[in-house]
Amino acid sequence: MSNAQDEKKTKLLFIDTMKFMGGALSSLKLYPATHPSVTSTLNKLYDSLRKLIGDKNRIVIAVTRNIPVLDGVPIYESNSHLQTFTKLIQERGIELIIIKSSLKKKELAPFIELLNKKQDDTETEDLNFQLEKEDVKSFLIKDINFTENTKKTYFSAIETIGKTLNDVRMGNKINVYENKRAVKGLVNSILIDKTALLSLSMIKNFDDYLYSHSVNVCIIATALAEEIGFSDDDITNIGLGALLHDIGKLKTPKEVLLKPGKLNEDEWKTMKMHPTSGYELINDLKGVDKIIGRMVYEHHMRPNVKGYPQPNENATPTAESQVIAIADTYDACTTLRPYQTPLSPTDAVMRMKKMTKDTGDFNTDYMEVFIKMMGIYPIGTTVRLDTNELALVSRYTKQNDAPIVKIFMNRDGKLIDNPGEIDLNDKNLDTGKHLRSIIAEIDILVRNLDPNVIHTK
Ligand SMILES: [Fe+2]
Ligand SMILES: [Fe+2]
Repeated sequence: MSNAQDEKKTKLLFIDTMKFMGGALSSLKLYPATHPSVTSTLNKLYDSLRKLIGDKNRIVIAVTRNIPVLDGVPIYESNSHLQTFTKLIQERGIELIIIKSSLKKKELAPFIELLNKKQDDTETEDLNFQLEKEDVKSFLIKDINFTENTKKTYFSAIETIGKTLNDVRMGNKINVYENKRAVKGLVNSILIDKTALLSLSMIKNFDDYLYSHSVNVCIIATALAEEIGFSDDDITNIGLGALLHDIGKLKTPKEVLLKPGKLNEDEWKTMKMHPTSGYELINDLKGVDKIIGRMVYEHHMRPNVKGYPQPNENATPTAESQVIAIADTYDACTTLRPYQTPLSPTDAVMRMKKMTKDTGDFNTDYMEVFIKMMGIYPIGTTVRLDTNELALVSRYTKQNDAPIVKIFMNRDGKLIDNPGEIDLNDKNLDTGKHLRSIIAEIDILVRNLDPNVIHTK
């Protein structure tokens, strides 16, 4: 079938789905989910959603400027079913809905009932949390509270890994459930919109280095795994492996771990033990897949059979471990440590690109996806604008477009409290020229600015 035919078919299928969705919304207002008229509409809705998902991992239904958008493609069609649905989700303050291939029929009624609820009931509560309470795992919603909820997810993940590391330190059992829950929260936010979390991953708390490093590697690795196209289950596994990757460092003596300056040969040997110690710590844990232990063991191994622990000849680390290796190196390079001035995000990407090309330290295909994902000015880069203002790259709405930034210092060199977001794609309507453009990346450390103050603004 040609592309145009395919598109037409998908469009019709989408309109059909919205018709059944509308039917389900109205019938569930009148009858309970067990009523025959409800079950028959839900069956039809389920069948058409299944067809719409096809062999994809998930589909994304969004509304942009009053137009429904399916998987990034706007559906221009004046159709009453589409209009009703568009109006409804806008009234609910919903930006997009993700439907995963794991969709089950029994998840439909609670999802529709949630949509039917009045907006004021759901204004402050996280819709995804409510769905989870109803055991609905195949729908994810991005609503007006998304950024705020993502921040909560991030800080609660820091708390969880902090508690886990403390448990290991005290010789207590690791709470696997809590860690899985933290990863689930992060992965859900990544699937909905990775930019909010990627910008939070630039917060590097030196006091709790291992906490923020673990969560940041989890964020970067899952975002990368999603871009590469791993399945949702694999993404969650990679997230857990990344969150726990450095757990073995708790067995490394503090004098080695926190030594300012270069390690001597013996100390370096001790340091290199942490993947093995980590593997031993989690390999026997109940409820943890064996692949997680392998990721922990292999996160410093390289596809060029270098790194540590010394891999067997011709043995390459698993695909999952190779994703974590990229995320781990990137986060480590961009962090201020007692013995290291951090690289800027752009320089870190460039150095890793060179290492991939020259010595094959990272998986070439994954590295390519990583570079694309991070953009020319990766999220978290500090830049000077042609207006002489200093700004932080906050997110991208489209790849290859100019980013959205937060101006944290005005042209007089004064720090701005609570900076708002500015879209660098905005143009002067008369001249057609961009209102602001990036001139160059700047090093905030040279200017004596505290990176965490900037990144938390
Ligand atoms: Fe490590
Ligand atoms: Fe690490």
